[in-house]
Amino acid sequence: MVRISLSILSLALCGCVRRVASFPSMLDSLPPSLREIVDREHQSIGRIEKRQGQVAPPLNIPPIIVPPIPGLPSINITLPGVVTTGRKAIPDSAHPFAAPGPTDQRGGCPGLNIMANYGYINRNGITDVGELLYAQQEMLGFALDFAAFLVALGVKSSVDPTTLKMSIGTTDSRTSGPLSGLFPQVPGLFSYPAHTKYEVDGSLAYTDECFTSDHSGGHFNSTIWAINVAIAQTYGGLMNIEFNGDARYAAYQRCVSQNPTCTWQFEPQLIFYGGETFTWTSIPSTKEDGTREHATIDVVSTFIGAHDNGDGTYSHVPERLPVGSDGLWYRRSIPLTLGEVGEQGLASISRHPVQFGVNSNGVNTFLVSGTQFSPTMTVNALVCLLVATLNAQTPPTLPGQRIIDALLNAAGIRTTYGC
Ligand SMILES: *[C@@H]1O[C@H](CO)[C@@H](O)[C@H](O)[C@H]1NC(C)=O
Ligand SMILES: *[C@@H]1O[C@H](CO)[C@@H](O)[C@H](O)[C@H]1NC(C)=O
Repeated sequence: MVRISLSILSLALCGCVRRVASFPSMLDSLPPSLREIVDREHQSIGRIEKRQGQVAPPLNIPPIIVPPIPGLPSINITLPGVVTTGRKAIPDSAHPFAAPGPTDQRGGCPGLNIMANYGYINRNGITDVGELLYAQQEMLGFALDFAAFLVALGVKSSVDPTTLKMSIGTTDSRTSGPLSGLFPQVPGLFSYPAHTKYEVDGSLAYTDECFTSDHSGGHFNSTIWAINVAIAQTYGGLMNIEFNGDARYAAYQRCVSQNPTCTWQFEPQLIFYGGETFTWTSIPSTKEDGTREHATIDVVSTFIGAHDNGDGTYSHVPERLPVGSDGLWYRRSIPLTLGEVGEQGLASISRHPVQFGVNSNGVNTFLVSGTQFSPTMTVNALVCLLVATLNAQTPPTLPGQRIIDALLNAAGIRTTYGC
């Protein structure tokens, strides 16, 4: 499995190099360490293009064995299906779109919501570790290493260590099983006790939890989305890397000046610097030659469920795939690796480097603390920092820690990135 992730990693890095290289000014603005990667990977583009058309073999990921804990039944992570890789038309007959019902959980993560809307994870929004691991690869085209990293982050934040279940919205007793009482009730991914783990301040379209009456980070915010649409308009209506650098910088300034409990620490914020790269790395449909359609405001709005009311305001509607005239959306031809997301995230920060920290005592009381961005930071160093935070602090439960380690090992993350 390690071998598989390594070869996928090199393919994906090259895939992204082409796009970066087509923006010479962007290339110049990269820190030297990243520019070196880009230059190196650029040389193998010819080889990649030949291989891009090939259909990769499906990944039959064996059950991930979590070392048992005395007194608790053993748990293994099993995927509900075999993961296919390569460009794929979605939706298919097994995965039609359906809007969520009144008791279905949805939260502030469009990627999770959309997987539920198409039934790749349980449509009720109560999913589990194996299902998530499968769905992120099968629907969104993530590589095993990136899917496993995000699931591990979910385990740190919100997974019941006995049922392996998680709510993608707010806290929900449907995550519990007969043994859950041995541990505290896990919060929903967008409930306050999970704040600054998976869910963090400064979302592209959701209100910071501190402004909401239930302290959930899962409320759509028309004002913030309108600001981001305006930023994209300065880049020809595209939500590309230039947009992401500016949008994150605007979110940082908004957080420091308006949110009294603004938390802008390096490791949790990197989830957003990286996660927002989806607007161009995974949301637009993939063309036959493996390149993607443009990350237009319309394409991204459809995916994140932002409906333009025509008067400068936006309403939230269920997230849908930005399909083409054939009614289909095409998944990435090359799975998106943790390395590629890390690289694009670092490149996004380097457009507007900021200092990381927290508001200590109300708005505009920002104190610099913790890890800081450095222009010489490599993708491997970044991944290893993020992996270290998975192991630190939370979850308090030993089973949670074992599940995280089993995921990291199964995806070969420490080996691939030299942690
Ligand atoms: C997990 O896998 C181990 C090793 O294959 C096996 O002994 C155990 O019974 C499995 N547990 C479950 C719950 O499937
Ligand atoms: C939307 O976000 C802004 C900026 O953070 C905030 O001031 C405002 O209260 C939010 N709106 C709603 C309706 O929560």
